[in-house]
Amino acid sequence: MKNTNVSKYEQEKRLLHGGDYNPDQWLKYPSILADDILFMEKVKANTFSVGIFAWSALEPTEGGFNFGWLDKVIDDIAEIGGNIILATPSGARPAWLSAAYPEVLRVNARREKMLHGGRHNHCFSSPAYREKITIINTKLAERYGNHPALLMWHISNEYNGECHCELCQDNFRAWLTRKYDNIDNLNDVYWSAFWSHTYNDFSQIESPSPIGESGLHGLTLDWKRFVTDQTIDFYRDETAPLRKITPNVPITTNFMGEVPKPNPFTGLDYAKFAKEVDIISWDAYPRWHNDYETTEFLASKLAFLNDYFRTLKDKPFLIMESTPSMVNWHPVNKAKRPGMHMLSSVACLAHGSDAVMYFQWRKSRGSSEKLHGAVVDHDNSTENRVFRDVQELGEVMEKIAEIKGSTTPAKVAILYDVENLWALSDAQGFHGGTEYNNKKYPETMLAHYRAFWKHNIPVDVITKDKDLAKYDLVVAPMLYMTDATLMEKMAAYVAGGGIIVSTYMLGVADENDLVHPGGFPQVLRDVFGIRVTEIDTLYPKDRNGVTFGEKQYEAFDYCAIVETHGAKVLGTYIGDFYGGSPAVTGHKYGDGAAYFIGARTNEDFLDDFYAPFIQNSLPITAQDGVSVQVRENDGHTYYFIMNFTEETKQITLEMTFEDMLRRQMMQSGTYDMKPYGVYILKQAKEGS
Ligand code: GLA
Ligand code: GLA
Repeated sequence: MKNTNVSKYEQEKRLLHGGDYNPDQWLKYPSILADDILFMEKVKANTFSVGIFAWSALEPTEGGFNFGWLDKVIDDIAEIGGNIILATPSGARPAWLSAAYPEVLRVNARREKMLHGGRHNHCFSSPAYREKITIINTKLAERYGNHPALLMWHISNEYNGECHCELCQDNFRAWLTRKYDNIDNLNDVYWSAFWSHTYNDFSQIESPSPIGESGLHGLTLDWKRFVTDQTIDFYRDETAPLRKITPNVPITTNFMGEVPKPNPFTGLDYAKFAKEVDIISWDAYPRWHNDYETTEFLASKLAFLNDYFRTLKDKPFLIMESTPSMVNWHPVNKAKRPGMHMLSSVACLAHGSDAVMYFQWRKSRGSSEKLHGAVVDHDNSTENRVFRDVQELGEVMEKIAEIKGSTTPAKVAILYDVENLWALSDAQGFHGGTEYNNKKYPETMLAHYRAFWKHNIPVDVITKDKDLAKYDLVVAPMLYMTDATLMEKMAAYVAGGGIIVSTYMLGVADENDLVHPGGFPQVLRDVFGIRVTEIDTLYPKDRNGVTFGEKQYEAFDYCAIVETHGAKVLGTYIGDFYGGSPAVTGHKYGDGAAYFIGARTNEDFLDDFYAPFIQNSLPITAQDGVSVQVRENDGHTYYFIMNFTEETKQITLEMTFEDMLRRQMMQSGTYDMKPYGVYILKQAKEGS
């Protein structure tokens, strides 16, 4: 008997290949829709996200529903064995809705009321919007909940942004009242005596604004937390009918990365949001072949993001969107060179994705995305280069389908905390301006990550709510904001045998962005065996140096000045008034150890510093620029070998593997890899 608790998604044996499909733009062209079905089979696409922006096709007039076209699309895709990821349409709304219920239109931070248009821009508080989306989501769930092709729900699209309307102000004040209970508590936490900003009553509070309050960091942090909570609150309303009517259909919403930054979207706290979704999915748009970084460097950014999204729920995720060729919104929209579509897709599978989905299946004829890459171009051809690239990947994804569900065995974790990024971004100090990129928190995270990635060591990118105990090593760079819980967690981890590495900026402020009284917190003094007494910020051209071991390294941007209280000095500053003082320290604490890197350095230092921690037992070695990533399940280990360079590189296999793509055995020995080349090798686990 079929176990009804096992979702269709869990039963699905294929990796998901397909993408955003917008038949609602082509309803007047039945021959195009017929071609789509034929072409989908040709590229071995098996899954389509449908209805993302289809509200006006589904409900052309208020209360007048039209599902006929969607019935046919879903049936047609079902007929070729395809899955549907059915979207709720809240990402964009019909004109009639904005006209009848102006409250759905956002007010921006400058308190300007928006007009109808665009997308991703509804007020998250609006009762009218919540009511309308509940009605249509209920209808979608009732109509398609039992359809055999329904795989998953795709909630809205790329939730983002904020609204400052009166409804949102009221909700924000209610949120603050729940949090602080009385206004004195809030004033204390906000340090509002500063510039006479003391509030008498919650009713005086306004969301942060460039024409109003922006310097109370407790307020700006709380507002960002509220925006996440309010977005989740809206999402819960959206998903309520789906959870009720289709409890067995998993729910996802597509998250974002920030391009060209290495970090996830910063407008929401995805660590919180992840708890609300069943499967993580995200939209990946790296700027391949750009003129300012190597392919290898860009690949490590993508790897970092994939590792972050995998670690959010400690299980495989989905690439919900990627482009088979180019996008239309980068500053330069360059085509993927031959080989890159395969390489960039395998790069995601290698780090834990069980899908390669595209935006978009077919290029639209008009409007802003008519020049955005797609599987099917305006020529409607199945012979062009991009279509054939997609077809080739479809074949590969069938050959390696058994990797679905396999996991990544990481023993190293890097802590990335978006609240820390928010606080660093607000902090008026260090490097000028309020832009966090001046302080380079994400870039620093990436620099530390690369020390492991370059040696093919799997890494989890964790958020601060995660358990540390399962890791051998936890790296927490620039952890400016350290609340008491986090510090205790770090202390317990090290006491229990863990190794932690942190850097300059550690332990400055608490969760309200109030500086820890008494300076460097006692718990951190105990664990690290140091006290940070000053942080020196350098001009861009200034250089200091660090002596570490036998070598000297450049130090720039930030130099923390440190007193040791039990820690061993591993490196010292070369110059300036703190020349000769500790720059790198290590301290045994309990059964573990805590290391502190006081200065910002180049990768050469990080490579040497982390070298003793890197034990690579991979049976494959590769030249620089070739990445080897591992996934495993009970029976097998899978090796993804990827040449992220424009040159031929060599790899050496220490044993015989099964080459999954060429369906042959590969004996031990040295092999050439062509530029952008890919191998996917398989090895049975001993005893299985
Ligand atoms: C000005 C202001 C002070 C303070 C300093 C900071 O001088 O008068 O209140 O903000 O700048 O440097
Ligand atoms: C985002 C959106 C898509 C589309 C793509 C274009 O990821 O979710 O609807 O606009 O960008 O790259």
